Amino acid sequence: MRGSKLLPNNTAFEILTRSPEETRSLGAALGKHAHAGAVILLTGELGSGKTCLTQGILAGLGSKESARSPTFVLATQYPGRLTLYHLDLYRLERVTEMEDIGLDEYLFGDGVCVVEWAEKAAALFPGERLEVRIQRLGESERRLVLSAHGPRHAALLKAVRDAVEAHGRTPLQGD
Ligand SMILES: Nc1ncnc2c1ncn2[C@@H]1O[C@H](COP(=O)(O)OP(=O)(O)O)[C@@H](O)[C@H]1O
Ligand SMILES: [Mg+2]
Repeated sequence: MRGSKLLPNNTAFEILTRSPEETRSLGAALGKHAHAGAVILLTGELGSGKTCLTQGILAGLGSKESARSPTFVLATQYPGRLTLYHLDLYRLERVTEMEDIGLDEYLFGDGVCVVEWAEKAAALFPGERLEVRIQRLGESERRLVLSAHGPRHAALLKAVRDAVEAHGRTPLQGD
């Protein structure tokens, strides 16, 4: 990972990864520091790395399971230090489809909720959240912009940023 760049307001930063392993490692830092009730909204085109980041989050929560995109069921649940609720809205056609899945438990419960294609139901998500925008720069290069809303997610962002900066001194794979 490199290019960790703090944006002016201290609640957002940008990072470049150069392999799926680096993206998973960033996810692992997110999972390790996530609090109960964390909401992590992922946006980025198909193949940008949303599921890859989620796999890291799951590992960081201490799970041995491997996250796959729950494309046909909207939501999958994984046990860990905190329960991970993994939502993928790629195939969502109407926001009303979300009414039946018990979204409040995912968003306001004691777990961590990670949502791929969050922009498809933007209005349903709480104001307090961490947004991760992933952009494909090349075959194996990605730009991730993390921005926090609310104090708890800002603290999560800071913990992740500190972990990334510590990794800078202990090179990650590929550095
Ligand atoms: N730096 C990187 N970060 C994440 N994925 C990467 C990276 N470089 C290459 N890839 C590849 O990009 C693809 C990302 O797929 P996936 O995580 O399923 O995307 P999404 O869920 O956004 O559709 C995987 O095949 C992964 O191996
Ligand atoms: Mg995916």
